[in-house]
Amino acid sequence: MKLVVAASGGVAAIKTPALIRRLQEAGHELRVAATEAAFHFVTPLSLAVATGSEVFDQASWFKADGQARHIELARWADALVIAPATADALASAALGKADDVISALCIAGIKEIIWVPAMNTEMWQHPLVQNNVATLKGIGHHFLGPASGNLAAKGEAAGVGRMLEPEEIVAALPSLFKPKDLAGKHVLVSAGPTREYLDPVRFISNPSSGKMGYAVAEAALARGAKVTLVTGPSALTPPSGSELVKVESALEMLGALQTSFAQTDILVMTAAVADWRAKTVATEKQPKMGDEQTLELIRTPDILSTLKPLREKQIMVGFAMETDKGVERAADKASRKGLDFICLNYPTQEGTSFGGDDNQITVVRPDGNFEKLSRMSKRAIADIILDKALDLSS
Ligand code: CTP
Repeated sequence: MKLVVAASGGVAAIKTPALIRRLQEAGHELRVAATEAAFHFVTPLSLAVATGSEVFDQASWFKADGQARHIELARWADALVIAPATADALASAALGKADDVISALCIAGIKEIIWVPAMNTEMWQHPLVQNNVATLKGIGHHFLGPASGNLAAKGEAAGVGRMLEPEEIVAALPSLFKPKDLAGKHVLVSAGPTREYLDPVRFISNPSSGKMGYAVAEAALARGAKVTLVTGPSALTPPSGSELVKVESALEMLGALQTSFAQTDILVMTAAVADWRAKTVATEKQPKMGDEQTLELIRTPDILSTLKPLREKQIMVGFAMETDKGVERAADKASRKGLDFICLNYPTQEGTSFGGDDNQITVVRPDGNFEKLSRMSKRAIADIILDKALDLSS
């Protein structure tokens, strides 16, 4: 592919020359752009030498013949990869500004735009930054990372905000350019935990973050699907473009899924539904009395089993959390719940626990056939799940 790699002014710009080299080794044709702030961290010469061509910067924007380089490059490129992408670069692009080379490229008609953010954790999680991310995703921009780990700035605690390593960016690029093969399909996704209240201030729940389900929703949207995301409480920003239904309890989740199920082509049930709820929910906060308390619990509805008899054309995918005897139990669950396949995962394994960016799943069919996938990002797993569901869908 013809790629413009653009660096904005973050510490991680020291890695941009290495990224350029890895992309060239992977067979891509490269040009490079950089904001003035990027030059605090990486020199124009090191970017030019890595690329083998002149850097597009503020000084070289307009040529004597009147040609504007942002237009020229946008016409040449298949994609723009902004690495590192700072909060400022995201904000400028989300506002449609054109006062630096990156924001100008973003509105110059370039076909695909990929942001590789790198910033401090608080900045990345700030609602204003997340709003800008949602705006850009909403117009079809792609995001790679940020990942969790040690941040480049000295003295920063490890947290989300680290730019992906050059090798990870090179590996992730092809999955972004999926065809719109889900156009015309309705994908229904459940995500996050449920909360089963005991009284107005206490509930039974679990540590599910919603990341897997949100990744499925994002992947399905990128592939042209209409997406309904039914989500339990989650701190994540929902991918814009999806129809969002917020629920708390298993009963509410069942109701929301029943409403959309008839129009659905593919259901991906990633939600970690609580299995028990209080037999009676107190309307007032209950004082603690004595040293022991007995709770009377009843089962929540099994949502998938309730949807099973309503199934017509729908492809149904579930998730199974196990700690041992995985495949056997997962195959049994898939068959009992009427699923086409179930994604078995082990939340007690290191690196794939609740809330992480990665997962490792084994795709288990109701007849016991299974395929173990390697550990990868939840976003990459989302695409594999959708590939398999689409293969089965008529
Ligand atoms: N699930 C559901 N309704 C429930 C519980 C789970 O639809 N009340 C779905 C989950 O969203 C998941 C699949 O069923 O897709 C398997 O979830 P899991 O908790 O592993 O299975 P359970 O049936 O609850 O079995 P277990 O006895 O192992 O907890």
